[in-house]
Amino acid sequence: MSEEFETRGANERKASFGFATVDEGAKQGLVNAVFSRVARNYDLMNDVMSGGLHRLWKSDFVSFLAPPRSAVSYALLDVAGGTGDIALKALDAAGAGTRAVICDINAEMMEVGRARGERFGDRLSFVQGNAECLPFGDRSFDAYTIAFGIRNVTRIDKALSEAFRVLKPGGRFLCLEFSTVEVPLLDTLYDAYSFNAIPALGALVAGDSASYRYLVESIRRFPDQKTFMGLIENAGFERVRYRNLSGGIAAIHSAWRL
Ligand SMILES: C[S@@+](CC[C@H](N)C(=O)[O-])C[C@H]1O[C@@H](n2cnc3c(N)ncnc32)[C@H](O)[C@@H]1O
Repeated sequence: MSEEFETRGANERKASFGFATVDEGAKQGLVNAVFSRVARNYDLMNDVMSGGLHRLWKSDFVSFLAPPRSAVSYALLDVAGGTGDIALKALDAAGAGTRAVICDINAEMMEVGRARGERFGDRLSFVQGNAECLPFGDRSFDAYTIAFGIRNVTRIDKALSEAFRVLKPGGRFLCLEFSTVEVPLLDTLYDAYSFNAIPALGALVAGDSASYRYLVESIRRFPDQKTFMGLIENAGFERVRYRNLSGGIAAIHSAWRL
């Protein structure tokens, strides 16, 4: 699997944008354009593309997080939170002491989330920001979640360092991301489905195949389970573990700031 970014000397850092290689400084703008295009249809397309499977993965993810059911104070930061699936599920599962902040770089994605999350009042807030330089103080949160977000970030190492910085000691890091299929045959079927059906569904349902081709390509460029574990450890986290979902189509990585 390819590196997410590579260094070719001063001023020539490159990043992957799907299968394309672009100047590092250009990647975020391209990613933002994709999510601005898909924001309106994002939730519908997730159901269509995954046959609803993403809902099960996200429920599993929130069960694994296990936010407190009591009124004890608990601060959750959901980075790249987009239209709010993780934060909303976490608040539904948690007691009244849990507050969630969704931080996403794209205002259009969060606009959809804002409408969906109105019922939580001031337990849910939205902050526009970049995972690579989070607009929060050190040691502010009990838990940091990022779901299907980190592969879109230009510098994964920076995002992980920021996750570590904003977590309190004893805080939990949890990442849900597409990963590498570890079951023979399923990998071939999954490749065929991804490269053929997903862009076609994007064209059919959302009138946009290019954005969904980026989605598939970005998944293939993301580090495999064990490589990603190493990146999380490099950021200072301990007790790093992962758990495959659906044979590795997605994986949950868990770690602690101790
Ligand atoms: C595939 S969506 C995931 C949304 C949500 N977490 C979910 O699971 O449905 C990826 C999100 O990452 C956001 N994103 C991309 N780059 C980002 C960055 N550098 N910092 C924060 N958010 C970013 C996008 O705007 C988008 O909302």
